[in-house]
Amino acid sequence: MKYWFKYVKPYIAYFITGPLCMIVEVIGEVLMPFLLSRIINLAESGNLTVEKSIALGLAMVGTAVIMMLGGVGGSYFGAKSAVYFASDIRRDIYKKIQSFSFANIDKFSTGSLVTRTTNDVTQLQNFVNMLLRMALRSPGMLIGALIMAVSLNPSLATVFAVSIPVMLVGIFILISIGFPRFQIMQGKIDELNNTVQENISNQRVVKSFVREDYEIEKFSSANASLKKAGMSAMKALIFMQPMNTIIMNLTVVAVVWFGSKMALSGSMPVGDLSAFVTYVTQILMSLMMITMLLVTSSRALASAKRIKEVLDEKVDLNDDNARYKDKRIDKGDIEFKNVSFRYYKHSADCVLNGINLKISGGSTVGIIGSTGCGKTTLVSMIPRLYDCDSGEVLIDGVNVKDYSLYNLREDVGMVLQKNVLFSGSIEDNLRWGDMEASEKDIISAAERAQADKFINSFNEGYDTNLGEGGSNVSGGQKQRLCIARALLKKPKILILDDSTSAVDTATEAMIRKAFAETLSGTTKIIIAQRISSVMNADMIVVMNEGEITGVGNHDFLMENNTEYREIYQSQTEGKGV
Ligand SMILES: Nc1ncnc2c1ncn2[C@@H]1O[C@H](COP(=O)(O)OP(=O)(O)O)[C@@H](O)[C@H]1O
Ligand SMILES: [Mg+2]
Repeated sequence: MKYWFKYVKPYIAYFITGPLCMIVEVIGEVLMPFLLSRIINLAESGNLTVEKSIALGLAMVGTAVIMMLGGVGGSYFGAKSAVYFASDIRRDIYKKIQSFSFANIDKFSTGSLVTRTTNDVTQLQNFVNMLLRMALRSPGMLIGALIMAVSLNPSLATVFAVSIPVMLVGIFILISIGFPRFQIMQGKIDELNNTVQENISNQRVVKSFVREDYEIEKFSSANASLKKAGMSAMKALIFMQPMNTIIMNLTVVAVVWFGSKMALSGSMPVGDLSAFVTYVTQILMSLMMITMLLVTSSRALASAKRIKEVLDEKVDLNDDNARYKDKRIDKGDIEFKNVSFRYYKHSADCVLNGINLKISGGSTVGIIGSTGCGKTTLVSMIPRLYDCDSGEVLIDGVNVKDYSLYNLREDVGMVLQKNVLFSGSIEDNLRWGDMEASEKDIISAAERAQADKFINSFNEGYDTNLGEGGSNVSGGQKQRLCIARALLKKPKILILDDSTSAVDTATEAMIRKAFAETLSGTTKIIIAQRISSVMNADMIVVMNEGEITGVGNHDFLMENNTEYREIYQSQTEGKGV
């Protein structure tokens, strides 16, 4: 509770006003049957005058108006509090996610982060809204109506001594059956959400592998088990409403039975009896509302817990202890000193195993090796997408952890293997690299990435809108746009992780040439599958299963490294190169 108070505090006035307005409504609601009963009693005894009926009528109209104002105010402030409260939480989750490292994100999975930011917050918002409207209203009505009923006729009120406990026991039994079933259902909803999320964001892959049927199957089974869980939870609660109704009706029958006898004997006015019947419904209805509130709160608590997990997640990668916060990368020398890393801290096998490597500033380095050998992981250590477990990564002789994350990532341009563009124009996307870039800079970057030509072939040129994730350009075009975007950063270290795999070799050679001519001061690290992409590099690193098995230029490796020679031969066979 204390935890959430900081989100309540700014709107505390609304949080208090809402329930107070509800109290006004409740007072009216309890007063109304009483006023009506006065009129009936007067009529019964033949004492109803025009003046009296006007006065009582006006009192009822007045009460109704005040009640309405209370109701409107209560709903308004309740909704307003809930909406503001939720919006702040959503903002904080989003902010928190922005500060997450890759490792943090891996831990939650994207699907679950989306669900937590949207669905869980909405769940909590609805609960707060309901709570503010009901928390005082239902107990208030329960107590108010009880007091009125007892003061109207204490002996008749003894019926509640039977019906309230019966109802509470019934509700308790149903909830203790239904509650665990609801929790199972909540888990199934999560499962379904994850399936849907993953499928929809990867529709292209699903289609290209013609896996629709399989995916429908997967969805159907998640959907079926949700249906089953939902039905099972419902079966328990299906009795709730009828049970309450029957208890209520039986109570009314009992009240009318005993009450009419009293009325006939003259010990209870008819008006009192009619008011009493209304109080019976009010009392039992508000009891039911209170239990419903408790049921919903369990669901909201689960959501609150999931939100709290994100907000409390320790960001495991930060620059709090950086020693040279103002330092920028100058030469672009890189050194890996005995670097080891694993994604799962409990697994025995290292993804990187005691890596030692020196790269001098301004040089071009190729990295080659089979898929899964750790190339991407190795370069991820440079801009600190992940931190190594042991050893250290130095840039210009300074540990990467001693740079501010901002400066480090500003100066290291990385074109990720799984890179994406954002919806918006091509120019907007390129500007991600540098918001202040001039038109000349943008065109120059695009030219060097060999993207200028195809951009100009589009009708709208640089204003062409890209679909979600850059869906309306080809794979090779997308890669070139990503390279141009990285170039605009004017990085001191440029890492291309398999970034020209979909670009034809002739175009790729032109990109390499442009790099050689215009990026002499930048350290260039190029991960590639094709030997031709790295053949002319100053230094080539051969990797295998998390270790470096060879370092040298092409001629040296051809002489001394069997693995490199084999890759070369397998790629050049029959081509006469
Ligand atoms: N985010 C991740 N979480 C867990 N394991 C990963 C992750 N990324 C890569 N791996 C694993 O680490 C190993 C090295 O992967 P990676 O560096 O991507 O190889 P490469 O780039 O050489 O193909 C692989 O076995 C891969 O399955
Ligand atoms: Mg890779």
